Amino acid sequence: MSDINIEEIVRQVLNSMEDGGQKQSASNTAGGIPKTAKVAMLTALEHYEIREFPIPPLGDGDMLVKVEGCGICGTDAHEFKKDPFGLIPVALGHEGTGEIVAMGKNVKKDSAGKDLHIGDKVVTCMIFKDNPDITMFDLNKQNVGGADVYGLLPDDDIHLNGWFSDYIFIRENSTVFNVSDLDLDSRILIEPCAVLIHAVERAKSTGILRFNSRVVVQGCGPIGLICIAVLRTMGIEHIVAVDGNAQRLEFAREMGATESVNFMEHKGIEALAEAVSDKFGGHLADFAFQCTGNPKAHANIYKFIRNGGGLCELGFFINGGDATINPHFDICAKEITTVGSWVYTLRDYATTFDFLKRANGIGLPMSKLITDRFPLEEINEGHKTNLAMTGLKIAIINK
Ligand SMILES: NC(=O)c1ccc[n+]([C@@H]2O[C@H](COP(=O)([O-])OP(=O)(O)OC[C@H]3O[C@@H](n4cnc5c(N)ncnc54)[C@H](O)[C@@H]3O)[C@@H](O)[C@H]2O)c1
Ligand SMILES: [Zn+2]
Repeated sequence: MSDINIEEIVRQVLNSMEDGGQKQSASNTAGGIPKTAKVAMLTALEHYEIREFPIPPLGDGDMLVKVEGCGICGTDAHEFKKDPFGLIPVALGHEGTGEIVAMGKNVKKDSAGKDLHIGDKVVTCMIFKDNPDITMFDLNKQNVGGADVYGLLPDDDIHLNGWFSDYIFIRENSTVFNVSDLDLDSRILIEPCAVLIHAVERAKSTGILRFNSRVVVQGCGPIGLICIAVLRTMGIEHIVAVDGNAQRLEFAREMGATESVNFMEHKGIEALAEAVSDKFGGHLADFAFQCTGNPKAHANIYKFIRNGGGLCELGFFINGGDATINPHFDICAKEITTVGSWVYTLRDYATTFDFLKRANGIGLPMSKLITDRFPLEEINEGHKTNLAMTGLKIAIINK
C-alpha cells in the first residue's frame, strides 16, 4: 500500500486549485471525508455493534466508497443466527452500493472496462475471481482473477470490509462495477437479480424456454418474484405463479404473472396440477422454475410440466433435505430436461445491470421488492425483521 493518505490527496487538490487549476488529477478525491468509519460488526449471535475504525491511507489501487445502502441476504441471516462459518467478529453486508469518494492514482477502469471517477456509484461482487470453477469468467475476454470479496470473509486489521457500514475500503484488484446509471434500489437488488439471470441462462441452455413459452414459477419469495420479472423482460407472457401466500401471489401478478394458483386451495397434487393447467387454458407448462427450498415442492413441480418440457431447479441454495419423485412418471416417460442453477457468473452480473434497466423501462415494480428500510444504527432490528419473514427484501439505508 502506498503512503499517500487521504489528507495528502486533499491537500494536493487544494494546492492544484491555488495553482490556478493546474491539471493535477483533481479527480483523486472528494471533499468531506472523515477520519473514521462506522462499521456494523456482528460481535455475537444476533448482535451487531456499531464500531468506529480509522480510515487507512489509500494505496494507488484502492478506493474509498461512501456506502448508500445494502440489502440483507439469506447468508447474512444464517451468520446472524448461527455463524456457521465461525466468522464472528465479522463485518457483513455484500449486497451494497455507494459512491467513490477517493481513489488511488492507478484506479482507472472497473472490472468490465468502464471508466471509474470520483462520484461514480459502484457495487462489488461475491464471485471469487481466482476460482475458475465457479466464475467461468469471460467478461470482456479478460481473466479478472484474484478478487476480494466483501461482507463474508474473516475480519482483518482494516475492518472496513463489509457494506453494513458508512464507508468501505475497496482493495486493489477487487471486482468492482460502475453502475452509476442505476438508481439506489436497483443497485441494492443487483445480487439477488444475478441469481435469476443465471437461472434463466441455464434454462435457455435446454432449448425449451422460448419467447411466449408457458412457464410455471413455483415459490413467490424474492427469488420467484424476480424470476417472473426476468421472464417478462424476455417476452414471456404466459406465466402461472404458484405459492400458498395470497399476498405474495398478488405481488406476483403485479410483477407480470398472468395467473396465480394458491396451493392451499387445492387438495392433493392432481387437483393442484389441474388448477395450473386450467390457468394455461388446458395445457401443462413448457417450462417450470422451482423457487422454494421445500423438497415437497420439488416433487410436485414435475406434475405441472408437459411431455418434453423443461425444469430449472434453483430453490436449494443450501441443503433442504431429500425429495421423493417417481423417475418413470416424472422424468423418463415425460422426457423432461432438467437443469440446476446455483449463484451466478461474472458475466451474469454484468447482464443483470441491463436487465434492471429493462425491467424499470417496462414498468415492473422492482423497488417494491424492498419492503423495509432501516438505518445502520437499527441493523439488529433490520435482521430481526428479516428473520420474521413479514417482508421481502430488507435493506439498510444510510442517511
Ligand atoms: N440458486 C441459488 O443460487 C439461490 C440463491 C438464493 C436463494 N436461493 C434459494 O431460493 C429459495 C427461495 O428464496 P426466497 O428468498 O424467495 O425464499 P422465501 O422463503 O422468501 O420464498 C419461498 C416461497 O416459497 C413458498 N412455498 C413454500 N412451499 C411451497 C410449495 N410447496 N409450493 C409453492 N410454494 C411454496 C413460500 O410460501 C414462499 O413464499 C430459497 O430456498 C433459497 O435457498 C437459491
Ligand atoms: Zn446475497
